[in-house]
Amino acid sequence: MNISIILAAGEGTRMKSQKSKVLHEVCNKPILEYVVDSSKGADIKKNIIVVGDNESSIKEKFENKKLIFKRQPIGKDKPYGTGYAVMQAVDEIEDSSTVLILYGDTPLIREETIEELMDFHKEQGLDATVLTASLENPTGYGRIVRAEDGSVIKIVEERDASELEKEIKEINSGIYCFNGKLLKDSLNEINNNNAQNEYYVTDVIEIIKNKGYSVGGHKIEDPNEIYGVNSRLQLASCEKIMRERINEKHMENGVTLIDPDSTYIDGDVEIGQDSIIYPGVIIEGNSRIGKNCIIRQNTRIYKSDIGDNVYIESSTIEESLIEENSDIGPYTHIRPNSKIRKNVKLGNFVEIKNSEIGEGTKASHLAYVGDSDIGKDVNIGCGVVFVNYDGKDKFRSVVEDNVFIGCNSNIISPVYIEKWAYIAAGSTITDRVKENDLAIARSRQENKEDWVTIKKFR
Ligand code: UD1
Ligand code: CA
Repeated sequence: MNISIILAAGEGTRMKSQKSKVLHEVCNKPILEYVVDSSKGADIKKNIIVVGDNESSIKEKFENKKLIFKRQPIGKDKPYGTGYAVMQAVDEIEDSSTVLILYGDTPLIREETIEELMDFHKEQGLDATVLTASLENPTGYGRIVRAEDGSVIKIVEERDASELEKEIKEINSGIYCFNGKLLKDSLNEINNNNAQNEYYVTDVIEIIKNKGYSVGGHKIEDPNEIYGVNSRLQLASCEKIMRERINEKHMENGVTLIDPDSTYIDGDVEIGQDSIIYPGVIIEGNSRIGKNCIIRQNTRIYKSDIGDNVYIESSTIEESLIEENSDIGPYTHIRPNSKIRKNVKLGNFVEIKNSEIGEGTKASHLAYVGDSDIGKDVNIGCGVVFVNYDGKDKFRSVVEDNVFIGCNSNIISPVYIEKWAYIAAGSTITDRVKENDLAIARSRQENKEDWVTIKKFR
């Protein structure tokens, strides 16, 4: 059985954060989630996460995933180090297990790479395998010391390395495969006689080697994959690399990104062929964008579903649906739970909340539609407000097909406007309006003759 142990108990002091390091996000997804997901490449039966004082916050974030949590006691007088962290999970390791160890702070690792590592470990009949990479600047990482025959002799941490060892460019990723029994036995033999007084899991490699077992190193091509996040600077670098990966995928799929460096798309977003994304666009969560859409500058789309041929400019769309051929913005705000049907036109400073806007309906300027169901081909004039809140409760209104609502009207919810009704501009509507009727709800204009001269205003 393959099991994974992910180490996430470290304090991450260099992040200078109240929050656990592994819960910081890269492209809106916690670092740790990337690591957990990458282990899917290894047919893992049991995922164990070693947590520390961050236990409750991590559990809360990952309650939907089937994970086993082991707590590492953290404190000044407590032992520390990656080896000590692995020890917390020993009772989950069976002698026959193949154990994959990962560090919770390496979000760029790919599922395929884990699969390759597992295959390499099994095909070569190795007892321990470490995933490595060559870095131009290996500073800070553990170095891989290899024998003439290519087998791995040991891993030395930067702080414990001799000048000669520091020259080695091949580094330890912190990802390993172990034979379960050997790992358990060897963990009993590690000590903290090193520069940091920590129990290093890396020492297990040397112990296994010295017992005469075979230890290998599997080197990967793209060193970015094992980039560890220890500081905010490294977090930003990871974000950039991840964003490039995501953007490249969309471009390969036939999406045009005018300026990939200023386009921010989360990992789970789908975009259809021939859509064009302009600079400053942010697309988040599990949003889906159809084909042939044009998403112009500074638009934010959050967990929304956009149909084909939609045009959006400088607008914010949250948890809503926009159907094909609609034209949104500039400066439209579509708030959660709205359904914008086909061929709708929403323009400048129009806000829609928890409402349905029927096919072909237009609200081109300065309007608020909240908690309402608007039919097809309705005209919502400039300055129309659906007055949905009395300070205590919210109310819904219904507007049927082909209604015309003149400018600056207030629709005091709950109210029902039947099809083909006509609301005169400036009306405040409080009662039902029947089919084909005109509702005019404002006082009549009165002109007082010569009022200005009588008042001696001129
Ligand atoms: C570690 C490796 C180093 C490797 C590098 C790759 C060791 C001794 N060194 O160094 O060879 O090149 O990662 O990024 O393993 N953790 C715990 N409990 C602890 C200490 C750490 O769970 O007591 C966890 C941390 O939360 C983190 C991971 O282990 O997710 C790695 O710890 P970190 O302190 O970042 O190790 P590095 O110094 O980066
Ligand atoms: Ca690290």
